[in-house]
Amino acid sequence: MPSVTMGLADPATYADGPPHAEFARRRREAPVAWVEGVLLERHSGGSAIVQRQDGYWAVTRHRAVIEASRAPEVFSSSARGPFLADPVSRGDLERNRQLLAGMDPPEHTRLRRVVTSVFTPATARRMRESIVDHAARVVARAVAGHEVDAVAAIAAELPLLVLADLLGIPRQDRGLFLQWSNHLIGFDDPAFGGGDVAVVNRTFVEAFAYAIEAGRAKRRRPAEDLVSRLVTAEVDGRRLTETEFCHLWLLLVVAGHETTRHLVSGGLELLAGRPDLSNQLAGRPDLMAGAVDEMLRWVTPIMQFRRTAQREVELDGTRISAGDKVVLYYISANRDESVFVDADRFDPGRSPNPHLAFGVGPHFCLGSHLARLEATTLFQELAPHLARLRPTGPPLRLRSNFMNGLKTLPVTFG
Ligand code: HEM
Repeated sequence: MPSVTMGLADPATYADGPPHAEFARRRREAPVAWVEGVLLERHSGGSAIVQRQDGYWAVTRHRAVIEASRAPEVFSSSARGPFLADPVSRGDLERNRQLLAGMDPPEHTRLRRVVTSVFTPATARRMRESIVDHAARVVARAVAGHEVDAVAAIAAELPLLVLADLLGIPRQDRGLFLQWSNHLIGFDDPAFGGGDVAVVNRTFVEAFAYAIEAGRAKRRRPAEDLVSRLVTAEVDGRRLTETEFCHLWLLLVVAGHETTRHLVSGGLELLAGRPDLSNQLAGRPDLMAGAVDEMLRWVTPIMQFRRTAQREVELDGTRISAGDKVVLYYISANRDESVFVDADRFDPGRSPNPHLAFGVGPHFCLGSHLARLEATTLFQELAPHLARLRPTGPPLRLRSNFMNGLKTLPVTFG
């Protein structure tokens, strides 16, 4: 096991995938340990800017991630926002605080109630038929070609189609969702956001303009979709404001497909490189629900979220001061050997599988039902073809310290 201390904040650290050996060392030797602040070179339009990122406590064990997640009064998502990157301005902080993931009770409780009242497990179940339909078409197209980029053709395509249906937006606009999400989540990747703050600002403006237009149209003619239900829902006698709706929209558009994309592409990367596993799952749709949960643990698409300590507190034996930045590494918790037997082995039949890929506590992912349904359906459709799945070149990884993702994955199905 290497004893080097890697810069967990540096997107370059994740260039070949998450540093699992380093996380294992931290879980063993320093489960809540300080990561030094860094200076990041960014730019805005043509001008270079250097952003100082504060140091933080990296929380790496399963139990401690749960403990901190369940105590929002101590570990706040709102105080300095939910992201590892420190807000660059007051406006940036306020924008992060408008996102559901960047709120604390009571604001969080109220807004979350609006969403859960209209986006329920039953909403996902009602979409089952159309998801099966989309998945069958996506798979048929992908396996027909000689070589295919599994990210674009499979992993991105299904969640985008499903998201468009869920929101009630024309399917041909799904390319916009992909573009906005790539610009925001791919901020540190030269192929997407390119570290350009102006790109982020432009993306917010474009996505909000689209949301306002879509919201107005749905208010005029409501239908059975999520946007219609969000713009007409009332909680405590009041509707969502336009600002609340726009931020929810953006969170749903990004969280609603990018994560599932990387779950599927990570799962496909694993299976393409492990014929023993793809043979085991080939023709066994009954194993897919368990296999998808193990993929969630294995890939952990969202590697971390950030909190800020509201008072001095002890976590996993370490004293944390009020105001300190605390980062919860789900990617590490999901390989915690004190919870998962043979944690570095992919076991499609693993049960129980208490992974934290969807987070835990009051911010637990609202789309977990939909994500599980999409991924399971897709791998069930892929089951007859899995025995012929092979990589045809190396994948390109997303440069990110937040999302464990692939940009391309060239494969063939025979
Ligand atoms: C594999 C797929 C997915 C993964 C791994 C994932 C992961 C997560 C995680 C880790 C959080 C916790 C945030 C925190 O603690 O601060 C979260 C929250 C959230 N997710 Fe997901 N997600 C996925 C799919 C989805 C989908 C499909 C949707 C919607 C259609 C969605 C909507 C949300 C929303 C709205 C929140 C914020 C909840 C809150 O702050 O109360 N997610 N997700």
